[in-house]
Amino acid sequence: MSNRIRTAVIPAGGRGTRLLPITRIIPKEMLPLVDKPLIQYAVEEALASGIEHIVLVTRGAASAVQSYFEGGGWQASFEGRRSNDSIAPCRHSSPALQISYVPQSAPLGLGHAVLCARKIVGDEPFAVLLSDILIDAEVPCLKQMIDVFDERCGSVVATQTVEGPGISMYGVLAGSQDPGNKRIYNCTGMVEKPKFEQAPSAQAIIGRYLLTPRIFELLEKTRPGAVGEIQLTDAITALLKEEKVFGYTFDGKSFDAGNKMGMLQATVELALKRPDLGPKFSEFLKRIML
Ligand code: G1P
Repeated sequence: MSNRIRTAVIPAGGRGTRLLPITRIIPKEMLPLVDKPLIQYAVEEALASGIEHIVLVTRGAASAVQSYFEGGGWQASFEGRRSNDSIAPCRHSSPALQISYVPQSAPLGLGHAVLCARKIVGDEPFAVLLSDILIDAEVPCLKQMIDVFDERCGSVVATQTVEGPGISMYGVLAGSQDPGNKRIYNCTGMVEKPKFEQAPSAQAIIGRYLLTPRIFELLEKTRPGAVGEIQLTDAITALLKEEKVFGYTFDGKSFDAGNKMGMLQATVELALKRPDLGPKFSEFLKRIML
């Protein structure tokens, strides 16, 4: 088993209920943030973190996500090639990037989506990125996590402090801060979407995971949990009884673009940071706030 993280799984087969009605016909991951679909930001973060193979778990064989990436032109340096086999890896012209597509038969939860990628990932540690969580960071969040994985030899989940009742929207960690590194949390438990009063800490899981392949066997046994879905958090809870799991408070700013307010905030902040749009957009915002 290689211990290098080469593969990233990006689930793109969910229902997107928090963004209805548009998600009735357009997958959440294809909604635009300024001029790129949400999922492209996750793909770019993965590539900037040294990932060589991306597994997109899509809603069906003929998904909009697949057409977008296979159509080419999403990134000037990569040219897409059509593959008739939705499971078989589709190798793009750059040797540095391979994109595979795997259909998720039904939206049974994040844990189920990750399990769909099992055959393609194989017996190696891998990353999971949730594309509705956008992370703006000088060093890509996933790269920061890979450094922790390499140093500590254990699975890593990205976390952030969430104070107040909002914590109930997340997976939440139990454990303690590492004495040697304040960003690292030694994880002893995890709960998906706990009630505020029952949350074991204020450390919320924020859309990025590095996992050992043992997770697949545990996912096979994971029954539906919170909101009736097969939860990745529940499988990680089982994993941490056998292996080390760390929380990592990344250096960067996250946006939850999976809901309408987060989507608007991310759009405004990203547009303001763009050299081609920022100055004029800023003037516009100032004008309409008068
Ligand atoms: C998922 C995970 C949850 C995590 C959240 C944000 O929940 O199940 O543990 O905290 O993403 O990354 P969802 O937002 O899909 O309900």
